Amino acid sequence: MKFSKNILCIGAGYVGSPTMAVIAAKCPDLKVTVVDISEERIRGWNSDDLPIFEPGLLDVVRVARGRNLFFSSDITGGIRDADIIFVSVNTPTKTFGVGAGMASDLQYWEKTAHEIVANSDRAKIIVEKSTLPVRTAEAMERILQENKKGIHFEVISNPEFLSEGSAVKDLLEPDRVLIGSRQNESGLKAAQEIAAIFAHWVAADRIITSNLWSAELSKLVANAFLAQRISSINAVSALCEKTDADVDEISFAVGSDTRIGPRFLSASIGFGGSCFKKDILNLVYICRSYGLNEVADYWQAVIEMNGYQQERFVHKIIKEMFNTIVGKKIVLLGFAFKANTGDTRESPGIHVARKLLEEQAVLAITDPQALDNARRDLAGITGVTGAVEYELDPYRAAADAQALVVVTEWEEFKKLDFERIFVSMRKPAFVFDGRNILDHRELFRIGFNVFPLGKPSLTHFK
Ligand code: NAD
Ligand code: UGA
Repeated sequence: MKFSKNILCIGAGYVGSPTMAVIAAKCPDLKVTVVDISEERIRGWNSDDLPIFEPGLLDVVRVARGRNLFFSSDITGGIRDADIIFVSVNTPTKTFGVGAGMASDLQYWEKTAHEIVANSDRAKIIVEKSTLPVRTAEAMERILQENKKGIHFEVISNPEFLSEGSAVKDLLEPDRVLIGSRQNESGLKAAQEIAAIFAHWVAADRIITSNLWSAELSKLVANAFLAQRISSINAVSALCEKTDADVDEISFAVGSDTRIGPRFLSASIGFGGSCFKKDILNLVYICRSYGLNEVADYWQAVIEMNGYQQERFVHKIIKEMFNTIVGKKIVLLGFAFKANTGDTRESPGIHVARKLLEEQAVLAITDPQALDNARRDLAGITGVTGAVEYELDPYRAAADAQALVVVTEWEEFKKLDFERIFVSMRKPAFVFDGRNILDHRELFRIGFNVFPLGKPSLTHFK
């Protein structure tokens, strides 16, 4: 079949592959190829055992794979043949040198820019899909224009707003698609070309265009705003625990104001995931580099509140279990950073697990999707009894335990038979619900001592 255009995506991760799978499924006239340096990942994308767990993704991949969607390790060939290249490589927080712990590590991104220059022999549109510091497109342009072949590369910013666990839905029905470009003739023309791809399935009024810098910065700001809401409600949860107010009632009352809205107001043990912390740190770093220290401090507080919430949660477990958890078996219900994903990057579960092990608790972890990642995250860390127990079956994990700690809001945890679990546990038995997903009154009735977040505790102690 003859395709109207060749699209390449460099980076077959959580963003690159789902995004390209949806583009391929919706645009049969386009040939879409996804490449990655990790051959293992590419093998996974070519199988039915996809490298990431994402509801509905396999169905979308199956629609297009082999028809107009291809996963390959041939990066140079992919670049050569492409008309449009999406760059969706990882941009983690720098761990070394200037800006360590704050700035984005742009080494993967820069490497792709050089590879594009080296392997191109005609004009291309380069689309920044990765989340990048504002004004990165300028650096991208400089590297690309250095080529001695006289080839024109037009750089576009098209940040991704999908959430893990709902990536397919977010891609199929996005709130908006943002396309930033230079405001000159070739920039605007390239932006229209990218818009035309999304116009296959996204309504025109949801495709927003802007200048390059607004698009880059909008992505960082969107994540900062979302994280700020979580830190705000988590800060309130601490006050609720001192005053017997109920944080869920407050979220409902406050979120009913249409100017505020109900979403992202669920108190938790803190936000995790690969992006919120990284992107806010990056925003803070950029602000400081422009001398905007007050602005930087403002956003930094969002991260500090998140750390405080995780710390506060662990302290509460220790305090309520009579100030010692040495040798006590504690079960983490969940380890993924949120439900419906196996991703554990920056999961609060990592912090909670480490702290409980430091206090010499015996740890069992159960999660329907994240046990392999949990094993990797905690590799080398042992408890008093040696290895941490990783158990798919929550009932087996809970046997002989003294406390259940809800880390991830999986639906299946709500449906567990807690009578059965209670019988198998040591007494007194505790529940610390870091997500407020369980029926606390019912657990109390069964006999548990229940400690929700931001709500009065329910205990049988006199
Ligand atoms: P990821 O780590 O899952 O995937 C990145 C992939 O890029 C990896 O498979 C890696 O092997 C590959 N890669 C790195 N350098 C390469 C190179 N030179 N050539 C070919 N492949 C290369 O990362 P991700 O979660 O998909 O995130 C990618 C970007 O998207 C980041 O900037 C992130 O901030 C942003 N983002 C992520 C999400 C999310 O939900 N994960 C959502 C929106 C935006
Ligand atoms: C987030 C954004 O929602 C996406 O728009 C963005 O594209 C993405 O980051 C990114 O740039 O990587 P994601 O991290 O996948 O998506 O998941 P979220 O649903 O935002 O959850 C992030 C964390 O906040 C999770 O740990 C979640 O449990 C927590 N959270 C979320 C709360 O604690 N309370 C809430 O009310 C909502």
